[in-house]
Amino acid sequence: MHYAIVTGASKGIGKAIAFELARRHHALLLTARSQELLEDVSEKIREQHGVDVITFPLDLSEEQAPQKLFGLCRSRSIEADVLVNNAGYGLWGAFDSLSLEEQVNMMRLNMESVVKLTHLFIPEMKKTEKAYILNVASTAGYQAVPNLAVYSAAKAFIINFTRGLHHELSRTSVSVSCLSPGTTATEFVDRARMNDRIRKMADRVAMTPEAVARIAVNGMFRGRMEIIPGASNLLSAKLAAIAPKRLVESITAAIYKMQ
Ligand SMILES: NC(=O)c1ccc[n+]([C@@H]2O[C@H](COP(=O)([O-])OP(=O)(O)OC[C@H]3O[C@@H](n4cnc5c(N)ncnc54)[C@H](OP(=O)(O)O)[C@@H]3O)[C@@H](O)[C@H]2O)c1
Repeated sequence: MHYAIVTGASKGIGKAIAFELARRHHALLLTARSQELLEDVSEKIREQHGVDVITFPLDLSEEQAPQKLFGLCRSRSIEADVLVNNAGYGLWGAFDSLSLEEQVNMMRLNMESVVKLTHLFIPEMKKTEKAYILNVASTAGYQAVPNLAVYSAAKAFIINFTRGLHHELSRTSVSVSCLSPGTTATEFVDRARMNDRIRKMADRVAMTPEAVARIAVNGMFRGRMEIIPGASNLLSAKLAAIAPKRLVESITAAIYKMQ
């Protein structure tokens, strides 16, 4: 049976994408670390949309985790026709003040797990009549961001990785899209340990995860290579591509400065 796999589905954008896919009658395989939150999400989805939901608690920053998820699918004859690589987080602070271990773990989740899951699932997705991969990057990936240096670099990796794959797979049944949300009202700011000044700024401009998910899922099923929800987010990504880099970086430096 075909399932849509969503990573980081216990809360935030991933949870909203899970609901959006369920609304369109997709059976779901949801993963994140928190078993309790996943169970709660899956119960609500079953109640509201009557689709089959499987949960699999997993820390995707662990080296063998993508293989474990793939192994579960093999053992239960789950065929993925949608793979949403959404799990991720940021860490705010000067590069040399943040722990190296934490930053490497973030790179493992935000990049390595995406590459591994995509590589594991593509062969069977190619055999499916139509399949979709959605990798979640960020508008932070369109330029360097001081004090989010590793995070923004990881998201730039996801944008380029996804664009490359989109072209490589364009003559197959697999469509690959990149979602780059701007500020979205989730627990992202807390996990990144940002301060009240940034939190207040974020609150003023944040989109809801539900609005982001609706645009994301529409764009994915239309086969779009890049999806940037929200007019101002789209504009800022476009401007970042044409404006002088130093100018753009001085703006992001002012937004994410440490005081
Ligand atoms: N919110 C924003 O402003 C924003 C903007 C641009 C891009 N994004 C991107 O959107 C994606 C979703 O973030 P969000 O805003 O929805 O944040 P969130 O509310 O913190 O949700 C993050 C999700 O990832 C899961 N996760 C975190 N660490 C994990 C790990 N080691 N293994 C497996 N799952 C893990 C979390 O579940 P557990 O904690 O249960 O593991 C949760 O389900 C991320 O890739 C983020 O970079 C967010």
